[in-house]
Amino acid sequence: MKGLCSPLVLLLAVLGRLGEGSWTDGHSLTRRGADNSGLESFVRHRYPTVVAFGDYLYVDGGELLQQTNGTETNSTQLGQSYSLSALNSTLSLRLDEAWTNETVKFRSIPKTAPLLDQQIYWTDTPINTFYTWGGMAVGTATPPANELWLFNADGTGGGAWSQVPQGDFRDFSRLRRPVGSSFTQTARVGYALGGQVTSKTDRSIQKEDPGYAVPGLVSYDFQTGQWTNISTAGYQGYGTNLNGQAEYVPFGPNGLLLFFGGAEAPVDATAGSIVQLSWNMLTLYDPVTGKWYTQLTNGMRPPLVERACSVGVEGPNNTYEIFIYGGTSDQWGVVSSDVYVLSLPGFIFFKADSLGTRRADHACVVVGKGKRQMLSYGGVDGGSGLRSTTTTPDPWRQGIGIFDMTEMKWMDSYDPNATNYDVPAQVSSWYVEGGMNNVMWTSDEVKQLFLNGSSITYGATSNSSSTENSDSSHSGRRIGGIVGGTVGGVIFISVTCAVAFLLLRRRRRRQSAISEEISEYRPEPWPKDTPRLRSTTPGTMMTLEPTPIEPVEISGTARGELPGEDVDWTYELPVPTPRTRPELPDRKYTF
Ligand SMILES: *[C@@H]1O[C@H](CO)[C@@H](O)[C@H](O)[C@H]1NC(C)=O
Ligand SMILES: *[C@@H]1O[C@H](CO)[C@@H](O)[C@H](O)[C@H]1NC(C)=O
Ligand SMILES: *[C@@H]1O[C@H](CO)[C@@H](O)[C@H](O)[C@H]1NC(C)=O
Ligand SMILES: *[C@@H]1O[C@H](CO)[C@@H](O)[C@H](O)[C@H]1NC(C)=O
Ligand SMILES: *[C@@H]1O[C@H](CO)[C@@H](O)[C@H](O)[C@H]1NC(C)=O
Ligand SMILES: *[C@@H]1O[C@H](CO)[C@@H](O)[C@H](O)[C@H]1NC(C)=O
Ligand SMILES: *[C@@H]1O[C@H](CO)[C@@H](O)[C@H](O)[C@H]1NC(C)=O
Ligand SMILES: *[C@@H]1O[C@H](CO)[C@@H](O)[C@H](O)[C@H]1NC(C)=O
Ligand SMILES: *[C@@H]1O[C@H](CO)[C@@H](O)[C@H](O)[C@H]1NC(C)=O
Repeated sequence: MKGLCSPLVLLLAVLGRLGEGSWTDGHSLTRRGADNSGLESFVRHRYPTVVAFGDYLYVDGGELLQQTNGTETNSTQLGQSYSLSALNSTLSLRLDEAWTNETVKFRSIPKTAPLLDQQIYWTDTPINTFYTWGGMAVGTATPPANELWLFNADGTGGGAWSQVPQGDFRDFSRLRRPVGSSFTQTARVGYALGGQVTSKTDRSIQKEDPGYAVPGLVSYDFQTGQWTNISTAGYQGYGTNLNGQAEYVPFGPNGLLLFFGGAEAPVDATAGSIVQLSWNMLTLYDPVTGKWYTQLTNGMRPPLVERACSVGVEGPNNTYEIFIYGGTSDQWGVVSSDVYVLSLPGFIFFKADSLGTRRADHACVVVGKGKRQMLSYGGVDGGSGLRSTTTTPDPWRQGIGIFDMTEMKWMDSYDPNATNYDVPAQVSSWYVEGGMNNVMWTSDEVKQLFLNGSSITYGATSNSSSTENSDSSHSGRRIGGIVGGTVGGVIFISVTCAVAFLLLRRRRRRQSAISEEISEYRPEPWPKDTPRLRSTTPGTMMTLEPTPIEPVEISGTARGELPGEDVDWTYELPVPTPRTRPELPDRKYTF
């Protein structure tokens, strides 16, 4: 598998193919053919949307590079051996049975929504629905009007598409149609930061890629149908973000949106003005108070990348880990094959030793009951907008990889019964060895958000903890006490980071004027399967009444070092969540 990843294996001159096929009428239903997909002809699937509900995984959107009849795979004669076209249908895959990528079988579901690359997608878990918004027209197609679509899964591997009527048409119609936004969600609100608008994403834009970088954080409330566009004036240099990642993390009273990776550019972007963002300092947003924060990171940070994929998973001891796979790196000049994990609240990065395959413009999602496996689907290792101008055929059959997040290694097969996710050994030893003592909080406010009410037991093993603990009416105190006193270091680190950041900014992105395809992609998250809250009839969304929000309290016992040190804790969640996994204010990964 390693050999196949060699950049020398440039089998396919896909530049100018992935992204400019002959598909001219992307969203006209009448002209839409069936996919002639299948294991035999699969070469690559770029820009997919991947969502899991209950026992099924759904794959939608993007473009398929397929092998046509009977020619050798090392042909460079494009168009003879290979074809590139939009995925015409939505695919589904069973997650309740074991498979390998040799045996996996997709089912094809007819699709009436526009065929697009790199869509923004949000899942409304309680009603088995995912929404798609934005995205880029495939090939030479013109982009559709600004529309929000939803796919309503039927729970048996099928489902139906419908357009969502807009109750908040005034605000919706003001929005541009972006691609490459960093998106995530809470249980009931979807968020998309930045992105780009080009002639291939928005009919009102003439400028070709890279078009305009979009400032603002757009939100869409699934229940009220309300759209907002929140100012990002304080975010990074321009308030813009291209092809980055976002995760909702369950810390603080309201949960926080964490933004990482990707690039920034001035609004009137040029290929040379796009600069990939540093990992040294990550940005956080409190969706309830509307406050922005930053926090420094430590450990083995990934190379600067765009178009990676990420998933988030909660550890058994109240850490929250974010796994980041692949992405294209200007810094390293390649598409990355590595998986990194960022653990919160430690803000510490680790790298997996297990070798993956180079991949960008793919999507990831947590699968299996134990939420221990990350499924990566699709992606390319070259093509327009990436460092290499050509992509190789996917070294993974059908573009599927399974990563065991506890073992931190790539697996040969999917196991629906894999045991529960536990924190990887190197991450837990960092906490056990007192790593939290060295976290440099950028402010007391951020520290409070991450440690107040926390029941993390790691790092609290110092011998002084029993005394510090004596007044803890809320358990976060224990860590808070240990972490104090490191503020001086913050200044030094900040200066170091600022210098590093300035150096990085100088780095010009790509020398060549290769036309840059927009992208990003999002891995994702999702769902649980208790249908409720509102009608699942497609197309009736906007008539829904807003449901009153009741805070949800959860509680438990944090294990102390000694039995006598156990601490009871409660945690108030911002939104009602499906009762199957009440501990996350947000996304559900349960099956
Ligand atoms: C989608 O339909 C078109 C038109 O029939 C066809 O040319 C194309 O190959 C189909 N896409 C796939 C992935 O098969
Ligand atoms: C390839 O050719 C075989 C017969 O030679 C035919 O059955 C098959 O459908 C063809 N496949 C494609 C993708 O055209
Ligand atoms: C394809 O690769 C094989 C083995 O690597 C080689 O013998 C053959 O000549 C190649 N064909 C073309 C058209 O390059
Ligand atoms: C998973 O567990 C279920 C129930 O225990 C069992 O029926 C099924 O065979 C298991 N599947 C695999 C692949 O082990
Ligand atoms: C959000 O607002 C900003 C500032 O007004 C604007 O430039 C941007 O285009 C808006 N975002 C979208 C997606 O329309
Ligand atoms: C997928 O296929 C490749 C090659 O066939 C194999 O090396 C890899 O281990 C497989 N991965 C999974 C998750 O099955
Ligand atoms: C800290 O916890 C207390 C008690 O749980 C709560 O009242 C307070 O609002 C919390 N502060 C922050 C910043 O979360
Ligand atoms: C903590 O206490 C244990 C015994 O209670 C002792 O063995 C250990 O050396 C102490 N560690 C530190 C860092 O003081
Ligand atoms: C997590 O906490 C449990 C008890 O709550 C403990 O048994 C386990 O060792 C902890 N995990 C790690 C990695 O420390």
